Amino acid sequence: MEKILDEKQQGNTLVIEPRKGNSRKLFIESYGCAMNFSDSEIVASILSKEGFDTTQHLEEADLVLVNTCSIREKAEQTVRKRLEKYNAVKRINPKMKVGVLGCMAERLKSKFLEEEKIVDLVVGPDAYKDLPNLINDVEEGRDAVNVLLSKDETYGDISPVRLQSNGVSAFVSITRGCDNMCTFCVVPFTRGRERSRDPQSIVEEVNDLAEKGFKEITLLGQNVDSYLWYGGGLKKDFKNASEMQKATSVNFAALLKLCAEAQPKMRIRFSTSNPQDMTMDVIETMANYRNICDYIHLPVQSGSDRILKKMNRLHTRKEYFEMIDNIKKLIPDCGISHDIITGFPTETEEDHQDTLELMEYVKYHFGYMFAYSERPGTMAERKFEDDVPEEIKKRRLTEIVNLQRKHSLYRTQTFIGKTVEVLIEKESKKSDAHWSGRTQQSTVAVFPKENYKVGDFVNVKISDCTSATLIGEAVGYSHLTPEEGIEATIK
Ligand code: SAH
Ligand code: F3S
Repeated sequence: MEKILDEKQQGNTLVIEPRKGNSRKLFIESYGCAMNFSDSEIVASILSKEGFDTTQHLEEADLVLVNTCSIREKAEQTVRKRLEKYNAVKRINPKMKVGVLGCMAERLKSKFLEEEKIVDLVVGPDAYKDLPNLINDVEEGRDAVNVLLSKDETYGDISPVRLQSNGVSAFVSITRGCDNMCTFCVVPFTRGRERSRDPQSIVEEVNDLAEKGFKEITLLGQNVDSYLWYGGGLKKDFKNASEMQKATSVNFAALLKLCAEAQPKMRIRFSTSNPQDMTMDVIETMANYRNICDYIHLPVQSGSDRILKKMNRLHTRKEYFEMIDNIKKLIPDCGISHDIITGFPTETEEDHQDTLELMEYVKYHFGYMFAYSERPGTMAERKFEDDVPEEIKKRRLTEIVNLQRKHSLYRTQTFIGKTVEVLIEKESKKSDAHWSGRTQQSTVAVFPKENYKVGDFVNVKISDCTSATLIGEAVGYSHLTPEEGIEATIK
């Protein structure tokens, strides 16, 4: 549970088995959201065609790329620290080139080259296809910056190289960018306008993952519920263009259905849902398909109507409760998690109490909680004073973290005595005699290995728990393993 605060900020080294035959070595690491990790897989794919294999040893890299996050100031500081480390290595290996990718690249642009002497190239999230040219520029001694944002780049045609994968779960991007303009958020500035990827390329990627043995996919977008693809079709079959668009367009619920039916034995997850864009047909689709996981990450940010409005979150507290009630009605066991920010400008004790009260109503399974961090260029930075003192932000944060811990325990305890379906992902960190995996609700469960293996769907009888983990024993394979066909999918 201690991980709650920084889970989204932690960096990881991404590694794949070196491919034979390529001569240059790429060290790539990612910070921030799942989309960054997914993008790094696209980058690795683009560069493998340019003769780069990935390495996990910084010292032997010809090219070091860091995929960065700007969401909070702390995330940027973490990256600056990493650059110091690269600098130390570059003293030993002066030929090494260093590139910055992602949101910090987009936010700081060529200023990066001035501020950090170690940096050779700066590449924004929509410009990765230009990497081969940019690397060429660097090798020929020119500065290399491309931070152009695109209205249509989705990388839909690139098959990602799966980095440091357990071979069980994978991310599949479905939208890029965000048009929501929450006033605290830097993402619309660093990732540009929202655009949806062709559903056919999404389903092809899902099919390809299934063929490679993957058992779970997470459809990724900053705001998945606004996914919308205007389909094509033959004009002659329709009265006019708008009728054709209506008949052939694919929204998020339809995309979920397409994926669930394409691979009935695969678990389907998605992230992230903004409550203002989530619709009943998504919840209904989740309820109808067994292989769409009963779990929704539904960030609320605040429980106060006044603060929600100032944040430009376009729903009220009442509407949020209605959505929660609807979810519970159709999917009684649905796991729900949140993001909450404490200390947004002008937040009073009363607003904070509203947030605590909202949490009491929902009793989230888990959540990600943050103290407000003012981001340059955002509406909040331009319009509001960052006027809640740091120690008050921290105190309120501690209060919501403590309440969440209580609710997490309440939720895990409800599993005791029940049998739940777990997809085995890896060995438990605490014991090499136990497997670790997740339930449909995304709660971690550990149990003795017996003869099961990574990638198996197993029914686990839960006998004990902590606030973050279920502890139990396997009682056999679950329905997803032996059965074939669409009948197994529809509830
Ligand atoms: N829609 C996105 C949200 C990205 S940001 C997604 O796919 O997850 C993730 C979370 O970071 C937000 O929900 C918010 O709770 C938090 N966050 C964003 N900007 C922040 C800021 N300026 N200060 C503190 N937390 C912030
Ligand atoms: Fe950020 Fe709001 Fe979009 S949190 S990513 S602007 S939905």
